[in-house]
Amino acid sequence: MDKKRTRRRLTGLFFLLLVLASAGSFFSALQKKKAAEDSTASVISGIQTDFLTEPMKRDGQIILRLADNQRAEHPTSVACDYFARLVEKRSNGRIHIITYHSSALGDEKTVLQQMRFGGIDMVRASVALMTDYNPELTVLEMPYLYRNSDHMWQVLDGEIGNYFLQSMRNNGIEGLCWYDAGARNFYTMDKKITKLSDLKGLYIRVQQSAFMMDLVSMLGANPVEMPYEMVGSQLREHIIDGAENNIPSFVSARHSSLAPYLVLDGHTRIPEMIVMNQKVLESLPFEDQKIIRQAALESSVYQRELWKKEEEKNYQAFQEAGGTITELEDLSEFVKKVQPIYDQYVPRYGNVIERIRAVGLTD
Ligand code: GCU
Repeated sequence: MDKKRTRRRLTGLFFLLLVLASAGSFFSALQKKKAAEDSTASVISGIQTDFLTEPMKRDGQIILRLADNQRAEHPTSVACDYFARLVEKRSNGRIHIITYHSSALGDEKTVLQQMRFGGIDMVRASVALMTDYNPELTVLEMPYLYRNSDHMWQVLDGEIGNYFLQSMRNNGIEGLCWYDAGARNFYTMDKKITKLSDLKGLYIRVQQSAFMMDLVSMLGANPVEMPYEMVGSQLREHIIDGAENNIPSFVSARHSSLAPYLVLDGHTRIPEMIVMNQKVLESLPFEDQKIIRQAALESSVYQRELWKKEEEKNYQAFQEAGGTITELEDLSEFVKKVQPIYDQYVPRYGNVIERIRAVGLTD
């Protein structure tokens, strides 16, 4: 009996030890995994804090890199260069901003990601791509939201605009200023568009944005998401039937020589921002931060003046080169058709949309 009890006790003890041992090795495996993760994290955060969140310095001069995807002569690029010159002048050459145009540092999605981790200091990009960092920014690109360009600027220059400039701080991104990007219109290779049914089934390139995919498919076309840099070759190879953009980009990117039909449907206005890695900005002396912020705001005023002139000039240039501009037979057809996108987004952002609509009506 005693022997049996002792054997049972021993077996119990053996199992207890086994359980403890396997629990021990399980916890030590967990600890190792955690340590491995921590070491990766510290490598990453090491890069962020020790290197990438400080700007480059050469002979005491601060070097900041600004990425942009337009050609150097595009009004937006010209304004970025103006911004860089202002900063250089006001800092007496202490801060040198290198502007990289024509996507020299990568497409918009990539440069925004790099900027977030400090690989690039600043980016000028479309808000359509910034919704990855704050989905609420989608409200600013809703179709037929603004009555006109002035209305959009009243919104961006006011409380709502300021709120959205700061709305990506959780992701370490600081909005410095707004740039105009006009109204976006469809352009096509083989077919004039004058009514909704003309768009049906056409393969239309859109920005890398779920919202733009939804919008263009609501209008009956087949949206094809791709970076801006690929549009020219995809048109040339007839992989897509058309795309949509503002007139200065349409002409400057030479899409106008491939797609001779432009329809003024103005389905959306998507503003742009110059954004900066927040840690890099805050690592600078307060006076330098002020110089950068102020110069960005002034470049925004300069950019919108330039924009208006360039829009006019480019409509004319496109027509002179043989392009055809059409108007919609019935704009309300388009406006009605895209209403479901409001139903999709308004429950989330309805309040801001109502406030945007009210801007300029009451004051
Ligand atoms: C606009 C904008 C670009 C954007 C492009 C696009 O032209 O200026 O920043 O990349 O649209 O359609 O992708």
